Amino acid sequence: MIYLDNAATSTIKPDSVKEALCRAIRRDDLGNPGRGAHECSLQALLEVEAARSTLAKFFGAKDSQLAFTANATMSLNLILKSLLKAGDHVISSCTEHNSVLRPLYQLAEEGVDLSFAGLKKDSFQVDVAAFEQLLRPNTRAVVVNHASNVTGEVIELSACAEFCRKNKLLLIVDAAQSAGVFPINIQADGIDVLCFTGHKSLYGPGGTGGIALGSRMADVPLKSVISGGSGIRSFEKVHPQEMPTLFEAGTANVLGLIGLHAGVKYLRDRGMAEVEAQLTKLMRRFYEGVKDLPGLKIYGDFSDPGQRRAPIVGLNLGDVPAAVISDLLATDYDIATRPGAHCAPRMHQALGTADQGIVRFSFSTMNSEADIDAGIAAMAELSRAFV
Ligand SMILES: Cc1ncc(COP(=O)(O)O)c(C=O)c1O
Repeated sequence: MIYLDNAATSTIKPDSVKEALCRAIRRDDLGNPGRGAHECSLQALLEVEAARSTLAKFFGAKDSQLAFTANATMSLNLILKSLLKAGDHVISSCTEHNSVLRPLYQLAEEGVDLSFAGLKKDSFQVDVAAFEQLLRPNTRAVVVNHASNVTGEVIELSACAEFCRKNKLLLIVDAAQSAGVFPINIQADGIDVLCFTGHKSLYGPGGTGGIALGSRMADVPLKSVISGGSGIRSFEKVHPQEMPTLFEAGTANVLGLIGLHAGVKYLRDRGMAEVEAQLTKLMRRFYEGVKDLPGLKIYGDFSDPGQRRAPIVGLNLGDVPAAVISDLLATDYDIATRPGAHCAPRMHQALGTADQGIVRFSFSTMNSEADIDAGIAAMAELSRAFV
């Protein structure tokens, strides 16, 4: 299958990730990390802490301020529920994934107030300037999607960071579609909380992700929302409140983290500038190949080739349901894409595609130009068939 659904998950991992996982599963000495001082427990702990250190450096965080979770959804649930309480107000955006929206809606039932900024007029960009009108005396945090999983548009993060700095708010960033696509440094970018997933552009296996906290979080009280085995202070009734244990109850996903570590080393060794350039080239090749096809509508602004984007092209053919096109791509052309709502209901409402959905093509560094050209040829045939 020609896999062009990398925004859902990257199925094809770099060889170094495959090899690291194969080596790890053959080892008989990976015990339970932090649960004992014998060789097997220590070997596992070494692997987890090495992964933590590499990921922390990759995002510009301190090792002690990066906690591993199962995915971005878990990271977002943990931080939002740990941080926010009744009476707080949060500003977010219409581009959010349900992994932000649903925890926020849950919190709203407990008394947290929510406001959502829409898109700028005639644009695919979040109206960050509108945050100013949404600000209230009880606003505590801004929660934003770094890159839309529907359009690939990247939010004006520096404007979000400036707004938060000026108004003493916390900036929480959902980096599910940006981590591993372009460089992120939480300190330089003014991010207080970065939530990432391991299985997409970081090329790790499923069941990996994390939360990285910036230096301003040092004084922010966070309550434990999961508790259980921690390997430390076992006689205390309350789960340890300090990072990273605060968000790491239970046994770590050692094998998964070994794979994630290899994925991030692959990105680090290639260099993010080269990775981003490759992804941009593939995305633009696809865009240029389909943009003038009869009946084709693209959701996203590709007018400036220098504009940073996630490697996503969302499109529709006339008023054909996205699911019909995506199914034909899979059955007749052996091409994987993702139709439908992409768990981003407010974004589809903003784009007017709640009923039709959008066909999403998304690329990874494992794709070749031949993959892209197959996608273009398939869309050209479908355009001739339907329009
Ligand atoms: C923007 C965005 N946020 C969050 C998520 C959730 O990621 P995960 O499924 O790894 O929890 C996704 C996944 O598609 C996403 O695209």
